[in-house]
Amino acid sequence: MSNPNPIGIFDSGVGGISVMKEIRRLLPDEDIIYYADSAHCPYGTKDPAFIRRRIKKVAGFLISFKVKLIVAACNTASIAGLDFLRHTFTLPIVGMEPAVKPAAASTKNGKIGVMATGVTLAGDRFHSLIRRFAGNTEIITVPCPGLVERVEAGLINDPATDDLLRNFLDPLLSAGVDTLVLGCTHYPLLQPQIAAILGPDVTIIDSGAAVANRVATVLKENNLLKDPAGDGRETPGKEMFFTSGELTDVGRAMAILWPGKAAAAIKQAELR
Ligand code: DGL
Repeated sequence: MSNPNPIGIFDSGVGGISVMKEIRRLLPDEDIIYYADSAHCPYGTKDPAFIRRRIKKVAGFLISFKVKLIVAACNTASIAGLDFLRHTFTLPIVGMEPAVKPAAASTKNGKIGVMATGVTLAGDRFHSLIRRFAGNTEIITVPCPGLVERVEAGLINDPATDDLLRNFLDPLLSAGVDTLVLGCTHYPLLQPQIAAILGPDVTIIDSGAAVANRVATVLKENNLLKDPAGDGRETPGKEMFFTSGELTDVGRAMAILWPGKAAAAIKQAELR
């Protein structure tokens, strides 16, 4: 049994593209619909109740395209509303959380930095992660105000973004962390810049690949994978992009993050 319907992916903005890249790598045949709620980005400084109202609308929009599974490619939305989404809708929903568990398993000196949004760091789900998996490790959390906005503006290879990153990362270097968790999907899009500042002795971990694996497993377990053509032919998956934001602004960032015609054809859907 197979299912040709698309996978729906959403984020507060373009950050979920870091997760979509991993999903595309693992599942080249699947069609994907991506929604960037850029008109309401960042989520990380908003009231969780507002975030839940938005993601209910976004999930409903994706479901109108008959998506077979939704990926909340946003730590903040998952922390604020994953349980709520799963109670509201019946299709499989894969969410994400900062990779505290693998970081605790990989640190040698027991000092871990976690970069994430304010809502994520304040959430019960995050505190429960720490309780369950951090053990005796020292966790230093860093909310990163302003960083998501720089990625949304396409200011990725930009000296002012590097300066902002240094402000967030210098205290972690001084504290001697040997492992850094990127707990927001926008941050892996700045991975080369972050790695250049931290140097080779700090291991950087994000959840994108683990989420892609989980998506593949859930599709398989539920007989929802798209049949890649019985005769062995490749049937490359297609992508469609939507945003609540201004097309020129979101299009600029998308052109950097997902080069090609599909993202260039991004359409506006405000979902009021
Ligand atoms: N990309 C999101 C995350 O993973 C949220 C960023 C934001 O909107 O504040 O947390």
